Amino acid sequence: MMEANDNQSALAIEVRGLVKTFDEVEAVRGVDFEVESGEVFGFLGPNGAGKTTTINMLCTLVTPTAGWAKVAGDDVVRERDDVRRNIGLVFQDPTLDNYLTAVQNLRLHAELYGLQRDVVAPRMRQVLEMVGLWERKDSAVGTFSGGMRRRLEIARGMMHSPRVLFLDEPTIGLDPQTRRSIWSYIAELKEREEITIFMTTHYMDEAEWCDRIAIMDNGQIVALDAPDTLKAQVGTDRVMIQTEDDDAAIAALQARFGVGARMAEGAVTFGVPGGEEFVPRLFADLGVPIKAVNVSRPTLDDVFMSYTGTTIRDAEEDAGKNRNRMMMQMMHGGRR
Ligand SMILES: Nc1ncnc2c1ncn2[C@@H]1O[C@H](COP(=O)(O)OP(=O)(O)OP(=O)(O)O)[C@@H](O)[C@H]1O
Ligand SMILES: [Mg+2]
Repeated sequence: MMEANDNQSALAIEVRGLVKTFDEVEAVRGVDFEVESGEVFGFLGPNGAGKTTTINMLCTLVTPTAGWAKVAGDDVVRERDDVRRNIGLVFQDPTLDNYLTAVQNLRLHAELYGLQRDVVAPRMRQVLEMVGLWERKDSAVGTFSGGMRRRLEIARGMMHSPRVLFLDEPTIGLDPQTRRSIWSYIAELKEREEITIFMTTHYMDEAEWCDRIAIMDNGQIVALDAPDTLKAQVGTDRVMIQTEDDDAAIAALQARFGVGARMAEGAVTFGVPGGEEFVPRLFADLGVPIKAVNVSRPTLDDVFMSYTGTTIRDAEEDAGKNRNRMMMQMMHGGRR
């Protein structure tokens, strides 16, 4: 770990006013943030928020339109080669060669990075053991499950002992159990190596694993803090009740408690501070029989909603509709 007073080198990533415009699309609209050495830092946001574009700028694959960024102390434009030496990258889309074995894939990567021959074999064993694939090292990647492939990609990203590892949607499309196992490998990785991890996700529960997260929407960071701090800022708990007459319950909540409720997932749903203390009052004064109650602490989805007015899933559906509309326009020659 770095010394606390070693301020300069304690920053793994430093970003100021970073912008990326593709023709008419403003993918990233001026973001500022810092990531300290040893942190697990995440970008959470819906499809099209600009997460991959940001990662690609930090990894020197896309040139910023404006602003600057430093990774491990080097400028991503002026010191591109130094940045590349210091980082590992796991892309959103798989990039393994399915016809090669696990070991062959890693060896290819080691050659690309000019790793010294005598360090390749021990390092390969170390990273394959770390992700639980040592026993399968000589199998063709084409025979691997989705989770195994993802683990191998993470191992490959670690081969050259990067100081900063970038993971773009590390567990996208995997089942919950596999996602959890990938997360325990990442946690172990962090224990064993002095490394900073920058990842993107649109899974709420995944963001919970990060030390800090930036919530991104529409090319901008709308909130940035530790997950618990962000959730505490929401200030209300979520209460869901099953009643004998939901319409009457919603009206009574408004009339007697001044609380605006709506139907969600088949239950009367609302947010109040101190949900657990509120429930006894509800039973005493609602005037509508209650069949069941559920009180929960705010989730990151509640955080996202408090800043953007929609849930991440709704935002993704809207983005899908926009994409469809643009496709229709293009098909009908509407693109200028
Ligand atoms: N090469 C490109 N050319 C034109 N537009 C692009 C390009 N790359 C990204 N974009 C646009 O920039 C916006 C942000 O895309 P980006 O891939 O960064 O989002 P994301 O947050 O990673 O989304 P997802 O969760 O779907 O991976 C989108 O509107 C996308 O269409
Ligand atoms: Mg992406």
